[in-house]
Amino acid sequence: NNGMAKKPLTLAFESVAGSRTDAVVVPKGYTAQVLIPWATPLNDSAQEWADDLAMTPEIQANSVGMHHDGMYGFALESSTESSRFVLALNNEYIDENALWAPQGGPTNMAEGKRPADEVRTEINAQGITLVELKKADDGTWNHVQGSPFNKRYTSATTMTLSGPVAGSDYVKTLFSPDGTQTRGTNNNCANGYTPWGTYLTCEENWPEYFVKDEGRERDDDRLGVATGRGRYGWETAAGDTSEQDGEFARFNATPNADDASGDYRNEPRTFGYIVEIDPYTGAQAVKRTSLGRFRHEGCWPGKLVAGEPLVFYTGHDSRNEYIYKFVTDAAWDPADANTPGAEGDRLAIGAKYLDKGTLYVARFNDDGSGEWLPLTPQTQTKDGKTLAEALGLEADDLAGIIVNTCDAADLLGATPMDRPEWGAVDPTSGEVYMTLTNNSERTEEGSDPTYNQGDDIQEPGTGFASAPINAANPRANNEGGQIIRWREGDSTDFQWEVFVFGAAATDTDNLSGLTEANQFASPDGLRYDERGEGQGILWIETDNGYAGVADHTNDQVLAVVPAALEKSDGSAAVVSADNQELLKRFFVGPNGCEVTGIYFTPDKTAMFVNIQHPANWPSSSDATAVTSGSVRPRASTVVIQKEDGGQIGL
Ligand code: FEO
Ligand code: CA
Ligand code: CA
Ligand code: CA
Repeated sequence: NNGMAKKPLTLAFESVAGSRTDAVVVPKGYTAQVLIPWATPLNDSAQEWADDLAMTPEIQANSVGMHHDGMYGFALESSTESSRFVLALNNEYIDENALWAPQGGPTNMAEGKRPADEVRTEINAQGITLVELKKADDGTWNHVQGSPFNKRYTSATTMTLSGPVAGSDYVKTLFSPDGTQTRGTNNNCANGYTPWGTYLTCEENWPEYFVKDEGRERDDDRLGVATGRGRYGWETAAGDTSEQDGEFARFNATPNADDASGDYRNEPRTFGYIVEIDPYTGAQAVKRTSLGRFRHEGCWPGKLVAGEPLVFYTGHDSRNEYIYKFVTDAAWDPADANTPGAEGDRLAIGAKYLDKGTLYVARFNDDGSGEWLPLTPQTQTKDGKTLAEALGLEADDLAGIIVNTCDAADLLGATPMDRPEWGAVDPTSGEVYMTLTNNSERTEEGSDPTYNQGDDIQEPGTGFASAPINAANPRANNEGGQIIRWREGDSTDFQWEVFVFGAAATDTDNLSGLTEANQFASPDGLRYDERGEGQGILWIETDNGYAGVADHTNDQVLAVVPAALEKSDGSAAVVSADNQELLKRFFVGPNGCEVTGIYFTPDKTAMFVNIQHPANWPSSSDATAVTSGSVRPRASTVVIQKEDGGQIGL
């Protein structure tokens, strides 16, 4: 590009101090409003919230789900409309104590049989909420109760399987003997979106919802399907007289040789995918299996170029797992771009791009170069076998490669990372940022000689038990985390650098020179807020458990303009002791929470973030009331605006 570089933006707000109060903190001149807390009614079938509301399957199915995480807004009338949209919101998991507070807690959570209606309620508290949000004349935001766009997708909602795994023997179940459907999605953590106007929701910590005591296969072990008892014991409600068609039995994947009709051994293989939702129609959701099967944190579209394939980046959030990208076979046709409000089959467009393409896994070399390694049945391993051969699969079994994505990635010598969480793409330059949140299983050189030379498949569990430091993941027992950035080369090559390291200001390995004003650890949520070439703001959200920082501040949102860091010679600049003051703290959340989910209206005057797993907030900070169960913490969305109505950050 030969255009005149514009002067980078200057962040105009005054950094907020670290805070450990039970409230949200915003800079001077900004307001924050709590919106759509858990259990807000979506329609008239749900009761209004009360601190002593006894939750039921019916109420929960008709109200906002629990534990808000990734989200994205879909304008209804035009792409610049900024006062009304459908919010697609992930409800990642549950706080069972808040859910069942009026009853004194959940029944038989640790042992014994769970009551069917409690399990149904918990199933309905997870998944996705679609809810219309609207700005009133006085500038406040409200949800539109009874809007035709309001809808829940839960861990029980029927969904379509699409792409290479669909219809294969790997996913044939009692529920779907032809392997084309499944029930539910859960642990929907981060999100993506597509240029054709759909929402992508990502299945992260789903394996422990299933139990499999016998007949375990390689992927059950590798991904961590439970034994004995599932995370919330949903499978224990099986056999209840009110159970319909394996409603709860499906969470027990142990093969049952006595049952001639079959069993649920393949149920876990219908999870671990990127799921596409059309927020405009609420049509049946589609699990796009071509983007790999693992603990997907999120999925982010790369730079959009007419006539070129589309790219989606996705990471596996476990210690020493990998970063992936999917490249579509189809070239981008701008005629497929979303027109808000227009009729049309957006999921058919989704099938065109997301069902056919190539999945790659990343190797980060110590010299700053990198390589995308294709996960196809024919890819050659170091031993001169094909991937299919090395995994014991039929020669053309792409479905088998996808079911065993991580094992295939091991065999290509991909680089084990410090827990990949969110990505963000500068849509002008195409540069990609990804948070690597922390890694307690990163060790000094040589401590695990088997880590990953592409020789072997990892032991059961989630990722290499330990992996030695490398240039991209250079700190042993990494508590601060880092954000890595890369730019694509001409082929399958790329160049990378670490953009910023989290740390406490006083840490000896405070590699980016952070101070009390911007110290952070465990970066998680990320958004590149495009405002024109070189004008973007990178927003960083934290989910921190490292005391070095947590003793000074609750979880937070920081902002930096990457272009403002740039060196005079044009080379890529990163946050360092020389420029660290350009990284500013914008927001701090209440006690016990993580700050996650991030969306801006097109005009940038409203910023939405989510407060997940707060300790008490927003009901009360009265510790006595909280302990007695008379108030219950409620994950919520917070909308942040400027008092003068201007753009956030400026
Ligand atoms: Fe659900 Fe990796 O965060
Ligand atoms: Ca979370
Ligand atoms: Ca996360
Ligand atoms: Ca996290």
